[in-house]
Amino acid sequence: MRLDRFLANLPCYNRQQVRLLLAQQRVRVDGQVSTDPLHEVREFSQVEVDQQVHQVGRPARYLMLHKPAGCVSATHDPQHRTVLDLLPAELRADLHIAGRLDFNTTGLLLLTNDGQWSRRLTQPSTKLAKVYRVQTEDEIGAHYPAKFSEGFYFAFEDLTTLPAQLDVLGPRLARLAIVEGRYHQVKRMFGYFQNKVVSLHRESMGGIHLDPTLAPGEFRPLTAGEIAL
Ligand code: URA
Repeated sequence: MRLDRFLANLPCYNRQQVRLLLAQQRVRVDGQVSTDPLHEVREFSQVEVDQQVHQVGRPARYLMLHKPAGCVSATHDPQHRTVLDLLPAELRADLHIAGRLDFNTTGLLLLTNDGQWSRRLTQPSTKLAKVYRVQTEDEIGAHYPAKFSEGFYFAFEDLTTLPAQLDVLGPRLARLAIVEGRYHQVKRMFGYFQNKVVSLHRESMGGIHLDPTLAPGEFRPLTAGEIAL
């Protein structure tokens, strides 16, 4: 939100007072004086007027986790272990998942407390490529890739999936890039051929690749470069 709007939304200042506070250099964002009404205030920014703190700054956190099979992509679950249970308690607070995986799907899972970042990553208009390694029960036919690029009609959502790229790596093994994140999307796509997905592993989301040094259940912070990607 713009700094002038942020301040005017507080119960103590009207728009005229906000203009004056800024001009008189009485406003600090993250410790620096700001006179710019358009200064972007994020949920992580500390905002002070005359040393009075109106929003406490906190660090934005971004983690990649190698999700193992047999845990739920949720922050709470009454029955099963969740991905948050894999993190130390002090890291769990206020994290959410950017792009869930099914219970038995493995691979790259991103966790953050930055809602703006995760929304940008997962909203359909971003068309971020998610790449999966897929093992199937039956052989993958030579006609499959054309159908993946043409799209599948999903009756429940009444939509046709966007073009997806299927590279066949072996008789029952493929790499699939999709730009959406519909419910059970990969399994439903293979379901069209009545071919069951027996193992599913996410390798990357956009430019962020699962770190090969992470064993299932391990995590690390994203680098500044990965966050920017
Ligand atoms: N598609 C699926 O069917 N399952 C996942 O976990 C991810 C994509």
